[in-house]
Amino acid sequence: MSDARGRLVVLISGRGRNLQAFIEATRDGRVRADIALVISNRADAAGLALAQAAGIPTQVISHRDYPTREAFDAQMVAAIGPHQPDLVLLAGFMRILTAGFIRAFEGRLLNIHPSLLPRYPGLDTHAKALANGDAEHGASVHLVTEELDGGPVLLQASLSVHADDDAQTLAARVMDEIETRIYPQVVAWMLGDELRFVDGQRRFRGRSLQQPLTARDLDPDFR
Ligand code: GAR
Repeated sequence: MSDARGRLVVLISGRGRNLQAFIEATRDGRVRADIALVISNRADAAGLALAQAAGIPTQVISHRDYPTREAFDAQMVAAIGPHQPDLVLLAGFMRILTAGFIRAFEGRLLNIHPSLLPRYPGLDTHAKALANGDAEHGASVHLVTEELDGGPVLLQASLSVHADDDAQTLAARVMDEIETRIYPQVVAWMLGDELRFVDGQRRFRGRSLQQPLTARDLDPDFR
């Protein structure tokens, strides 16, 4: 992947702030890639307008139009395949994917999840961190496997929970201070072959990782 510009396909369901971070990072050269296609499973996803404003092709594939998860995922595989993406990025894509979809893009399918995995897979992560009185909260970028929010974590960054945080303020800080930085960083590293997953091992710049990378590892452009 290291020489030519990479090709990305981004899947969204909502506002598209992570998508916007990719749009900016591909434009300013921090991520050497083009976004070939943005797919949303919801026609009303605000992120679609962000893609269109950036001149990126969009496609709506509504899960409601398909009788089963398998049929929906098969349609998505058919839509993505011709673009031959180096990476398929789940960016707030709120559907559980089938094994068939995951296998089609295994090793090049990434997700961002708004918690310090393995804490709080699933929904309402910010409220759960607050309810548990956590001092630290954050987000994780991971490879997607068949276990929900359970694939190997590549990079994870945290911030301090404030005494007056509610779920909205905490979510906004995790988005602005963490998500929009760490996800493009992981993509930049993977496209440059600096971060790889080989034989079940995470490898970063030639060494095996025993733990996820953290904010300390971010390149200056992403801090
Ligand atoms: C982000 O916080 C992302 O981490 C989360 O959805 C939000 C999407 O926001 N994803 C998940 O919870 C996946 N399990 P965005 O559409 O503005 O990027």
